[in-house]
This record gives sequence, C-alpha cells and structure tokens, in this order.
Amino acid sequence: MSKVSVFRREHFNAAHRLFNPGWSDEKNFEIFGKCANPHYHGHNYELEIKVTGETDPETGYVMDLKKLSDLVKENVLNEFDHKNLNLDTKYFTNINPTAENIVIVIYEILRKKIDVSFDLGIRLYETDRNFVEYPVK
Ligand code: NI
Repeated sequence: MSKVSVFRREHFNAAHRLFNPGWSDEKNFEIFGKCANPHYHGHNYELEIKVTGETDPETGYVMDLKKLSDLVKENVLNEFDHKNLNLDTKYFTNINPTAENIVIVIYEILRKKIDVSFDLGIRLYETDRNFVEYPVK
C-alpha cells in the first residue's frame, strides 16, 4: 500500500502576550519586545494539519478531509478562535503562548483524536514569514 499525506488548512484569530512572570518588566521587554505589551496583541494564525497514512482500498481516501476539518473546528478552533490565549484558554496558564508552544498544544490535542495508524504533523504560521512545525522529523 502506498502512503500519502493529506493536508487541511485552517485559520484562527487570537490574542496573546509573551511574558515571563519570573522576570522584571524591563527584562520582559528586553527579551520579548512589543510582544510583552501588557494589553496583548493579535495574530491571524494559519494552521496546516498533515495526516499521513495508507489509502483505504474502498474509499481511496487516507482520511475524509471533511471529517478532519470537523475535528479541527471542534477541538482547536472552538478553543482558540477569537480568544485571548493567555486568559481564555486553559493551555497557557503556565507556559508562554509562543508559536512553538501553541503548535505543541495543538498537536497534543489532535493526536488524541486521530488514530495512531496515521502520522500527524502540524505547521502553524504566526505571520506569512514566521512559522513553526511539530513534530520535528
Ligand atoms: Ni505575538
């Protein structure tokens, strides 16, 4: 059987602030710059979900992309879209909502929902030019 990767692209808007509570305000601004602004700022996040597996002989699909889309909407977008990641979600109370940490959180959420026979990869674009990928191959 041939393995194929299928991709679904999704989108959410969210606010965040990068801040280490163990540091002084000066150090936070030195390290995180404008991202440490106390009143938060927003991003238009683009999310790419990559599922790799064997094609099903009966459907020809690796995975029904409508089902993948529904899964992402239900478990990720409903949690993150139009939210303040620091304040409105349970995931970033103890970790900074950097793109790196957000992509790991999204992977962990979706990994539980997708059968282990599939490989999962997540790419998160914070801007057109800044993006992260997890896991690392
Ligand atoms: Ni930011």
